[in-house]
Amino acid sequence: MSDHATLTLESLVVERGGRPVVHGVDVTVQPSQVTTMLGPNGAGKSSIAAAIAGLAHVGAGAVKIDGTNLTNLRPEKIRANGISVVPEGRRLLTDLTVEDNLRVSTYSLGKQAASEGLAYTLSLFPELEKRWKIGGRLLSGGEQQMVVLAQALVSKPKVLIVDELSLGLAPIVVQRLMPVLAEVADNGTAVLLIEQFAHVALSLATKAYVLEGGRIRYDGTAAELSDNPDMLHATYLLRD
Ligand SMILES: Nc1ncnc2c1ncn2[C@@H]1O[C@H](COP(=O)(O)OP(=O)(O)OP(=O)(O)O)[C@@H](O)[C@H]1O
Ligand SMILES: [Mg+2]
Repeated sequence: MSDHATLTLESLVVERGGRPVVHGVDVTVQPSQVTTMLGPNGAGKSSIAAAIAGLAHVGAGAVKIDGTNLTNLRPEKIRANGISVVPEGRRLLTDLTVEDNLRVSTYSLGKQAASEGLAYTLSLFPELEKRWKIGGRLLSGGEQQMVVLAQALVSKPKVLIVDELSLGLAPIVVQRLMPVLAEVADNGTAVLLIEQFAHVALSLATKAYVLEGGRIRYDGTAAELSDNPDMLHATYLLRD
């Protein structure tokens, strides 16, 4: 499966519109685990994902994979280093079939890596096989989200970052998709799951961070955070 690698953010400052919105965070995302980053609206979660992907400017600090500095590299360079980011609200190309959506994501891969990647995504989402030739707009919301995840996974990334997987999806769909992230982690990938609400993410994750106002409020195990309703309530992470 994918090679193991650790993603680290070191004293990371992220700027949006020329001003810092993330003020020096330290985060480690270990291979073969799901790490979750939780935080209320506007905490800076998506800004961190964008900075890792090379889509937002890092003002200070570093993004590293196994110690190799990737800070402010171009997005395609970051992808080539084995980091795959699913940005918040990512949609598939609804005019294309499932197959073509996935093939678009294999363009930078060699022929063998592409066919192995397609086989890998179908093993994770066997439902997509019978939808292979179907246009994106005819898929259900859950199937569309499967394609978006499959697009990120077709390169067998060392690091997978998913920003708000559950947003706008029915609970039953979330229940189908979340275990796939656990399976991906079991295959060796370092998974960072960013969510606004704690429920599902904490059940899946080993390690957890809470971000608020661009700073880390909690850094510890997911189990400990689950047992800390005061913290979860104080940072609006529980939806009752
Ligand atoms: N493109 C942008 N230009 C300027 N400011 C931005 C931009 N994107 C985000 N911001 C600001 O950066 C801060 C952090 O926003 P960000 O989207 O990273 O938070 P978030 O934790 O992902 O929130 P949410 O849970 O709502 O997705 C906010 O103050 C926001 O207004
Ligand atoms: Mg966000």
